[in-house]
Amino acid sequence: MLDNRPQLPTEIARRRTFAIISHPDAGKTTLTEKFLLFGGAIQMAGQVRAKGEARRTRSDFMKMEQERGISVSASAMSFDYGKYRFNLVDTPGHSDFSEDTYRTLTAVDAAIMVIDGAKGVESQTQKLFEVCRLRDLPILTFCNKMDRESRDTFEIIDEIQENLAIDVTPASWPIGMGRDFVGAYDLLRDRLEIMDRADRNRVAETVQISGLDDPKLAQYVPADLLAKLREEVDMARQLLPVFDRESFLNGSMTPIWFGSAINSFGVRELMDGMGDYGPEPQIQTAAERKIAPEETPVTGFVFKVQANMDPKHRDRVAFVRLASGHFERGMKLLHVRSKKQMAVTNPVLFLAADRELAEEAWAGDIIGIPNHGQLRIGDALTEGEALRFTGIPSFAPELLQGVRALDPMKAKHLEKALTQFAEEGAAKVFKPMIGSGYIVGVVGQLQFEVLASRIEQEYGLPVRFEPSHFTSARWVSGPKDEVEKFVNVNKGHIGQDSDGDTVYLTRLKWDIDRIERDYPKITLTATKQMM
Ligand code: G4P
Repeated sequence: MLDNRPQLPTEIARRRTFAIISHPDAGKTTLTEKFLLFGGAIQMAGQVRAKGEARRTRSDFMKMEQERGISVSASAMSFDYGKYRFNLVDTPGHSDFSEDTYRTLTAVDAAIMVIDGAKGVESQTQKLFEVCRLRDLPILTFCNKMDRESRDTFEIIDEIQENLAIDVTPASWPIGMGRDFVGAYDLLRDRLEIMDRADRNRVAETVQISGLDDPKLAQYVPADLLAKLREEVDMARQLLPVFDRESFLNGSMTPIWFGSAINSFGVRELMDGMGDYGPEPQIQTAAERKIAPEETPVTGFVFKVQANMDPKHRDRVAFVRLASGHFERGMKLLHVRSKKQMAVTNPVLFLAADRELAEEAWAGDIIGIPNHGQLRIGDALTEGEALRFTGIPSFAPELLQGVRALDPMKAKHLEKALTQFAEEGAAKVFKPMIGSGYIVGVVGQLQFEVLASRIEQEYGLPVRFEPSHFTSARWVSGPKDEVEKFVNVNKGHIGQDSDGDTVYLTRLKWDIDRIERDYPKITLTATKQMM
């Protein structure tokens, strides 16, 4: 990933589209909230919140809305920060939603990785990092909670370098920790930042200094900490690589900032880092060709569908990452999959506290398009070209259960609800060839609970999930006559997914090996490209 293409139009060049990744509890929500606060998208950081698992089942933006009374229910928030336009895309916090998270990461150009200074690199951070690495996404690291007892700075940096196999370069260096935390020395801009303990929402005081020998330092930093700071920075400069934008942009180096999200400390520096060093909207890949953001025709792809965002309207919003061009409200775009023209008359941008009609948007932006179900994950919208964007996979579910409505008269409603969740990408829904009912497939157990509660809340339909004798599903492909033969012999295992594609529902692990042996012309796959 390189920003060496000359001169993007200013409106495109100022866009930064990114996600925040972290292990639960590291401080992602708090950091997001401060971003929105400094970006002018919300007026006040809230304090009311629920505890534990409950608040992680939904997206973090929804979590903020429900528990802090801030209206931000969207999967992407756009706000201006200085001369930049930030598009912050939400990634659900719980590990059970890895597929959704994976897709979200196809829509961004960079990620911020938040780690807890006392805990270092935790399991979920590691997993999400691997996903970012698959796409060589540039990553900025924020080491949070420095106002608490944290690990030694070198130890944290070493751990990231070793566990994630990435070069780490300090953008700031913490001064003290826990109760003695004073602030940080900004290595990139030669400044001192002093944390304000009295007001959590106040930004740190910045003192311009001329190097670490500046006598001014002694006014702000106690002598012992100052000596330690000088020694450590000296060592860091000898041992750690200096910031190199190219290495950062190709994903092989991450700059790290040390701060405390809850105290608003280090947040602005991180935002400045995203603005000044972060990537401009990048080239996107379609099966046919590569699409550069500065191309005039508008193109984009759906990476997420969210239903029932507004209970009064029962609408569905498809989130589209614009890959190229300058979009204007009212434009007619080709929905490539159905080959139909679509007038996009009421697109939404998620600005400030409310949805706003998007009068215009540029490559890199995320717009929401309300629709009645035509738009699905992976779909392309263009000004006429038949493009298919690649890289948005659908994974085979790892857990399968049957589902039925507690009120048998409501079976039709259940079908509608399930179809909708399948289109939203919240679950895989299979209709077995034999028998009635549906099989629902998910990646993590918690998703069943979330689905059951959403079906009840959004459709007034109590349901029960029940064990199924199927354990996994594979998409079936091969020559038409071979597939027909295969389906006829294996009816008890065959189903259709919500796109009408044939799947083989496995019972035993070795089913798959057996089929590969007995039907050499049939291919069973665990992922399907959604396009
Ligand atoms: P998450 O979205 O990554 O799961 O994390 P979240 O922001 O919800 O933060 C997890 C906990 O860490 C919260 O505490 C939050 O207040 C705290 N926290 C976030 N940033 C900092 C920081 O810079 N310093 C310290 N000391 N704590 C921080 P909680 O106990 O779960 O909630 P609360 O009762 O404190 O609100």
